[in-house]
Amino acid sequence: MSRYQAQILLIVLCVSCSPESSVPEPPPPPVKKPLTIFRTDSVMVEMGKRHTLLFDALQRKDWKMSGEQLARIQNSAQSIASNTPLKPLALEFIEQTRYLQRVIETGKKHESKKAFSQLTEGCNHCHVGANMGFAVVRIPDEKTDN
Ligand code: HEC
Repeated sequence: MSRYQAQILLIVLCVSCSPESSVPEPPPPPVKKPLTIFRTDSVMVEMGKRHTLLFDALQRKDWKMSGEQLARIQNSAQSIASNTPLKPLALEFIEQTRYLQRVIETGKKHESKKAFSQLTEGCNHCHVGANMGFAVVRIPDEKTDN
């Protein structure tokens, strides 16, 4: 609860106190909140989705789409860096995405497989570092219909 919401709640509580009641309502106990302002799991569902879309775009050699998906992955990592104690791992991961970024920017299709696999290792490196090693990110199966 933000301080603003807490103030509103207090006002509502005071207004709802009838004047006859002699015992004032005690203020609500402070809510224990995690230090992060969002939970990483929703970001990770997003990451997982982008990771697959990026793979598909690279297979199609759609550099524009690939660049967009990678940028979203980088932005998600940046928000983890800004909002969670995983900052060092998130910044390290962003550095690990630079190789694929260069490959996309220069359209080096022969390196994109290697670069994508390094990106995927970067995902798993953070998972291991965050004691989430059970969340193993895999390279999607290649489509054979094209
Ligand atoms: C900075 C650290 C970090 C990086 C980088 C990272 N992850 Fe995660 N990931 C986590 C943590 C922590 C969890 C488990 C906790 C959670 O779900 O919030 C997780 C869990 C997941 C999950 C399981 C989510 C669920 O709740 O079902 C998926 C899928 C996932 N990550 C995908 C990825 C992909 C794909 C990448 C790379 C593109 C990636 N992650 C990079 C920290 C990271």
